[in-house]
Amino acid sequence: MNFNFTEEQLMSQESARDFAQNEIAPSAVERDIKAEFPTEIVKKLGKLGFMGMMVSPEYGGAGMDTISYVLAMIEISKVDASVGVIMSVNNSLVCWGLEEYGSEALKQKYLIPLAKGEKLGAFALSEPEAGSDATQQHTTADKDRDFFIINGIKNWTTCGTTADFYLVIATTDKSKGYKGISTLLVEKGIQGFAHGKKEDKLGIRSSDTCSLTFENCKVPKENLLWEEGKGFNFAMNTLNGGRIGIAAQAIGIAEASFDAAVKYSKDRKAFGNPISNLQAIQFKLSDMAVKVDCAKLLTLKAAALKDADKPYYKEAAMAKLYSSKIAVECALEAIQVHGGYGYVREYLVERYLRDAKITEIYEGTSEIQKMVIARALLDGK
Ligand code: CAA
Repeated sequence: MNFNFTEEQLMSQESARDFAQNEIAPSAVERDIKAEFPTEIVKKLGKLGFMGMMVSPEYGGAGMDTISYVLAMIEISKVDASVGVIMSVNNSLVCWGLEEYGSEALKQKYLIPLAKGEKLGAFALSEPEAGSDATQQHTTADKDRDFFIINGIKNWTTCGTTADFYLVIATTDKSKGYKGISTLLVEKGIQGFAHGKKEDKLGIRSSDTCSLTFENCKVPKENLLWEEGKGFNFAMNTLNGGRIGIAAQAIGIAEASFDAAVKYSKDRKAFGNPISNLQAIQFKLSDMAVKVDCAKLLTLKAAALKDADKPYYKEAAMAKLYSSKIAVECALEAIQVHGGYGYVREYLVERYLRDAKITEIYEGTSEIQKMVIARALLDGK
């Protein structure tokens, strides 16, 4: 086992940290309050190579490994988890999915601008009646000569209003159940495709989430990824990597909560001394530090397995399950350390709690992660 990061991994961590502190932090509070999308920040992230980190340079990406991606995601999410999810979806769901399963023509046309951060991607799987049970795809894509005609509704799409390209999962052959599901790339602005209004969310308010509607939306058959009937496998395989990204996002929130609790406990005096002198506070800080470290080790293990081309779906589910759980716990404890000040906007910890909660829900709820882990264990994996 090697606990040393490479020069390249450390560089990625450091430049993400610098960018987060200098360019993201100043506007994070205001964007959260106004639920304002970080347009300029996302453009700059793209120019620095953070929107297509793992894509090969041949397709405009930074050609980095998953460990570098995890380290960068932690730094960005530590400052603003909304920017974290935008970065994560573009990198691990959209770019990864396209590079792995897109045709050469799709990669040339769509992956290059996505990886360079010139365009933004979204991943449309969930539906009003297909959340955890993702096989129940009611959205249909019927073949009509050289086209697929899409009809249906997608829900909870990250970057739903701001994306340029969407990977849409839809049923192409109902008789085959989940083996009749396929993935199509849809461009914003084509006839029959519209997005709903931005959801008014508890947390990650600066990212945009909305529903999508398709009414006789005509997509060229060349926009099919992988092959017909492989859409569900596409979604599952892509989400395995996505879960590593969300685990890293959760670690960023947990670490920010820990840092805030340490700082406040040293500044705040009670009973004549800083509250950090009190064992009640010290125990909280110790517990938080251990949890953050465990989450990091699990997530880096999943990332290392992915980089080594070894199976990682169980480890990715474990990383997401644990990291999201401790993100909520650390944010709650940070609020407790801050007392009343933790409950108001003046300090950042109330946002950390609001942002942390979604990590237990999207890209597979904690209950789904437990199902994935248990099935893998029972299969001897
Ligand atoms: N990795 C790879 N393949 C997987 C897999 C995984 N983690 N889980 C299931 N599969 C494959 C199986 O191997 C099987 O494929 P084959 O038939 O080719 O062998 C196929 O999927 C069906 O598997 P199951 O029989 O296990 O299917 P199921 O219906 O019993 O359970 C599930 C599937 C695990 C519950 C799945 O539906 C799931 O993960 N649900 C959660 C969906 C989810 O994560 N949604 C997130 C929405 S996207 C989002 O949040 C993005 C955003 O914008 C932030």
